[in-house]
Amino acid sequence: MNQYVIRGGHPLFGEITVSGAKNAAVAIIPAALLVDGVCRIENVPQISDVTLFFSILEELGAKVRVLNRHAVEIDCRNIRSTTPSYELARRIRASYYLLGALLGRFGKATVAMPGGCNFGVRPIDQHVKGFRLMGADVIEGGLIQAEARDGRLHGANIYMDVVSVGATMNVMMAAVLAEGTTTIDNAAKEPHIVDLANFLNSMGADIKGAGTDTIKIRGVEKLTGGTYGIIPDQIEAGTYMAAVAATGGQVLIKNVIPKHMECISSKLQEMGVEIFEQDDTLLVRRSKPLHRTNVKTLPYPGFPTDMQPQITVALALAEGTSIVTEGVWDNRFKYVGELKRLGAKVQVDGKVAVVEGVDRFEGAPIQACDLRAGAALVIAGLAANGETHLGNIQYIERGYEDMVGKLRAVGADIQIVDVPEDEKVEPKIG
Ligand code: EPZ
Repeated sequence: MNQYVIRGGHPLFGEITVSGAKNAAVAIIPAALLVDGVCRIENVPQISDVTLFFSILEELGAKVRVLNRHAVEIDCRNIRSTTPSYELARRIRASYYLLGALLGRFGKATVAMPGGCNFGVRPIDQHVKGFRLMGADVIEGGLIQAEARDGRLHGANIYMDVVSVGATMNVMMAAVLAEGTTTIDNAAKEPHIVDLANFLNSMGADIKGAGTDTIKIRGVEKLTGGTYGIIPDQIEAGTYMAAVAATGGQVLIKNVIPKHMECISSKLQEMGVEIFEQDDTLLVRRSKPLHRTNVKTLPYPGFPTDMQPQITVALALAEGTSIVTEGVWDNRFKYVGELKRLGAKVQVDGKVAVVEGVDRFEGAPIQACDLRAGAALVIAGLAANGETHLGNIQYIERGYEDMVGKLRAVGADIQIVDVPEDEKVEPKIG
């Protein structure tokens, strides 16, 4: 199962329900290691990155009981190892959260670090700086070994040199059971930062200020368990909104937090997309040609880098020339080569893309090169006349629950087709 066949050129009509947030889930599930009790986690997205984390936790001694499609119980009372499987951990970028969680609870951790990825070097120096300031010795290599010098971490004042989602969450995890209070300044503010803090607080932690620049974590003796529901996925919702922008039509996007969507909604509105908010839904309609605009990706509440490929696809079909500037990652325009195969006119110079809108795309065989690029190419295929074959869809399945089913429900002609075993490509780290 690793190719999508898309017959595009049709507008989308109907309803899509958004799943739980991937980037919250891949932090909250390892954070269950901090809990000396049973966590029931709801609204868990059914994606392969989550399944992989369940396997990693089970190997460490956790009991993982899947209750239904979107709910799981994780019991970390009898963890027997602080060294997650090298083979499993290296396959998922978010395995760095195992460091903060294991170090925070047991005072030590040895975790395989994934290397760089398709959109540039991904350093973890800010995570390591935080652990060291809290009293850990950290040896970096293919394996990261971290150990609290006197068995337990201590609270510290940590100023992040760059605004980092991963470092903010990792240090937060390490600090919840530390002795004393930790302050994180220049913290990231993404919705999943707040979600992780809410999860940990619901298990007995004492975290204040998540969602602002400064987070204070007062260490507690123990986290004891409870029930928590993950927030809806801002990027999944935004991806389907961009799909409606590119194809035209009208789709009701259900299970969203509209406030989280403002940075995306306002850009789409500038492009002429109509968006109507009601409770936890957004009605998205595109009935006229799209206008050009400029986009620059920034940490939240700026326009998210994880929506950059999807909005670029829509802009490639807008009237006029748009400028897209990638403000977070060094090399996140790799997918543009594939987009050009469909007829897009995009010139990339480093972190800037000049996007000259065209009237239409024509279907062609193309390959996904990472998760969000893959989603963007699905959107391009939906908008293109004729047939698009999209390979390497393993990337997409890492982070989007049932994308094919959700798109088919709004009238898209997309199906999964088997390709021979020897043509399959192992997904890289994303
Ligand atoms: C998270 O990655 C997401 N991944 C990414 O989503 C997302 O693109 C990114 O945040 C930004 O929003 C997960 O949540 C699993 P960062 P993360 O640390 O935490 C630099 C997706 O498609 N930096 O906020 O690894 C870094 O190089 C994925 O869902 C340092 O210099 O990103 C980058 O330029 C892809 N030192 C910037 O900060 C550090 O120690 C932001 O990175 C850490 C980061």
